[in-house]
Amino acid sequence: MKYSAPRGTKDILPEEAALWQFIENACREVFELYNYREIRTPVFESTDLFSRSIGVTTDIVKKEMYTFTDRKGRSLTLRPEETAPVVRACLENNLISADQVTKLYYLGPMFRYERPQAGRQRQFHQAGIEVFGSQDPAIDAEVIQLSVKLFEKIGLKDLEIDINSVGCKKCQPKFRDAIREYFRSNIKNMCEDCKQRLETNPLRILDCKEPPCQKYIEKAPAAVDYLDADCKIHFEEVVRWLGDLGIKYKINDRLVRGLDYYTKTAFEIVSKQLGAQNAVCGGGRYDDLVEELGGKPTPAVGFAIGMERVVEMLRNSKFEIRNPRLDLFVATLGDEAKRVGFDLIAKARGKGISADMDYLGKSLKAQMKAADRMAARFVYIIGDDEVAKKSAVIKDMTSAEQSEVKFEELLGERSPLLSKTR
Ligand code: HAM
Repeated sequence: MKYSAPRGTKDILPEEAALWQFIENACREVFELYNYREIRTPVFESTDLFSRSIGVTTDIVKKEMYTFTDRKGRSLTLRPEETAPVVRACLENNLISADQVTKLYYLGPMFRYERPQAGRQRQFHQAGIEVFGSQDPAIDAEVIQLSVKLFEKIGLKDLEIDINSVGCKKCQPKFRDAIREYFRSNIKNMCEDCKQRLETNPLRILDCKEPPCQKYIEKAPAAVDYLDADCKIHFEEVVRWLGDLGIKYKINDRLVRGLDYYTKTAFEIVSKQLGAQNAVCGGGRYDDLVEELGGKPTPAVGFAIGMERVVEMLRNSKFEIRNPRLDLFVATLGDEAKRVGFDLIAKARGKGISADMDYLGKSLKAQMKAADRMAARFVYIIGDDEVAKKSAVIKDMTSAEQSEVKFEELLGERSPLLSKTR
């Protein structure tokens, strides 16, 4: 029997892990620079949390959730996204209060039962942020600026920021009616999904990618034309702040997000280097969600980045992955030498020097090969002769130079390891 990873999931192998660590470290660094604190929530939650927040008529809730019943009959779902769990955690742990802005970030796996393709998996990873407590348009702009800074730090280019306003509880119904009205006469020529969406969630039609639907979508009414005064001013202010920050953006009045909780600002960052799944970041404002999930009315805004897509882009840009090197490999021959070597690697690790040795009883030649494969900087060779002389042969694996050093000096101040490794 041969097992393989479930469809739509991937192993991140050691070779690629260095790239992931680089991106994760950049995320943490930039998030903390903007005063965000990390939050970690369970990977599964009550199913109800997601259906209420993401919306029962969305694709995610209708067809993409990994839902199961536990042994006590509770319906649980592997998180398809992290905004709702963060809101739940904030309410449960009283992290939000009226007189302060709460800034949180997260990194972790999400799960959606989608058709796997390049850039789309069933288990994927997001890095995201959520800010609670402010309706100031400047914070929307700051959130977008943060994502720009992060992509700059990671070294990604050819990105475009698409921004739109989807209005609020008050103006959305008018826009929804206008959309329904507009599509009604042509819906017979559109795809099956759009036919359904017309009744259940007409705004989602704008996001349809099916070719026959495009010509109707192009001319559809724009949300920005239906905004009430408050939403209109908010949107104008957000783009003004973006202008002040020198951030280039494109107003995309077709942009609707795949989750129902958004109000006012919605944005996506898309890459020209990726194929159909080209959004590397998606987010926006969701001023009603905290209240809908049982809290006091609290404005909020955030985004999430798709880590697999960032990894893919970095790979395309021939980003040089620097895998960690081993500082020291101790090659030994004979029992006594092994004892000395075993003691030596323990002491080396105690000094913060990464070290390893052979545990397969290999020949000296094979041990040297192994050290090479591990990209060791130095090899200390200890055989019977060396034990007798209480010294080891040191080989610098970069220059291939060899010298002999007394045991007591191997990890001492003059050791080449200490001077050259860090
Ligand atoms: P989302 O647009 O559904 O938003 O996901 C954010 C990003 O996650 C996408 O732009 C994409 O890069 C990545 N992503 C989504 N699905 C997949 C998949 N199946 N495979 C690979 N990558 C994927 C949210 O999840 C919101 N919670 C974002 C947010 C935070 N809004 C406000 N705060």
